[in-house]
Amino acid sequence: MPKSFVYTHIRGFDEEVLRGGIPQGHVILIRGASGTMKSSLAYYILYHNALGGLPGLYVTLEQTAGSLLEHVASLGLKATTVSDALPILDLSRGREHLEEMVAKVGAMTDATAPRGEALVAVLKAKVLELRKKRKFELLAIDSWDALELILEFQDRRAETFGFFEWLRDLGVTSLLISEEPGWQAPSTGLEEEFLADGIVLLRLQPVTETAYQRRVQCVKMRSVNQDSDDHTLLFENGRFEVARAIG
Ligand SMILES: Nc1ncnc2c1ncn2[C@@H]1O[C@H](COP(=O)(O)OP(=O)(O)OP(=O)(O)O)[C@@H](O)[C@H]1O
Ligand SMILES: [Mg+2]
Repeated sequence: MPKSFVYTHIRGFDEEVLRGGIPQGHVILIRGASGTMKSSLAYYILYHNALGGLPGLYVTLEQTAGSLLEHVASLGLKATTVSDALPILDLSRGREHLEEMVAKVGAMTDATAPRGEALVAVLKAKVLELRKKRKFELLAIDSWDALELILEFQDRRAETFGFFEWLRDLGVTSLLISEEPGWQAPSTGLEEEFLADGIVLLRLQPVTETAYQRRVQCVKMRSVNQDSDDHTLLFENGRFEVARAIG
C-alpha cells in the first residue's frame, strides 16, 4: 500500500520531479547557501498546505517571526489567512528562549542531566504540545544547523539519528533547512544527509560570467523514483515553478 503524498505546490515539481510528492512522514533536508530561498520555499510549502487544509508548524531559529513574515509578505504570501493553520514557533533568541522554557517546566527536568539534553526535552515537549493542540501535519525547522548548535549534540550521529526518529514517530512530514557550508572539513561527516529520507538542493548557478540562475535538484527521495536532474527554479506572481535546466 503506497503512502500518501504531501504536495510541495511548486509547479512541475510534484508531478515531474517527485513523481507524486513527498511521501508522508519523511524527514527532508532543504539544503543551500545563504540567499537560495530555503526559508521562502519551506514557508511556501507549509503555506499552500495550510491553505489546502493541512496544518503546519514553522519553527524559526535564525530570523524572528516578524522578519520571516515580512519576507513572505514581500513574496505575496498572505500569512494572516493561514495564521491559525500555520503558527510560527519563534526561537530566534535561540538558547535563551529554550532556557526560559526549561525554567518554566524546571521541576519536571532532571537537574543532573547535561544542559543540552534538558533543552532537547523541553523543545520536544513544546512541539508535542502543539501537535496535540494544532494537529499540524507539516513541520519546518529553520534551521537544523541553528537547532543543533543550541542543543549541543555530544555525539552528532547518534543524536541526529535519535532526533530524526523522534520526528518520524511524531507522524509528521518534516522539512529541515540546512546551510550549505562554504567549505567542508573532511572530518565533518554530513550525518544528516545519510539519515534524511530526502534531500532537496537549492543553488545559484552561474549561467554567464555575470548572470545567475536559481536551480533546484532533488538528489534523494526514499521510496520514490525521483528525477535527479537539475531544474531551474522560478518565483513569479507568488508561485514557485520548476523547468528542466538546459546545458
Ligand atoms: N519577490 C521576490 N521574488 C523573487 N525573489 C525574491 C523576492 N523577494 C526576495 N527574493 C529573494 O529571496 C532571497 C532570500 O530568500 P530566503 O530568505 O528564503 O533565503 P534563505 O536561503 O533562507 O537565506 P538565509 O540562508 O540567509 O536564511 C533573497 O536573496 C532574494 O533574492
Ligand atoms: Mg533562511
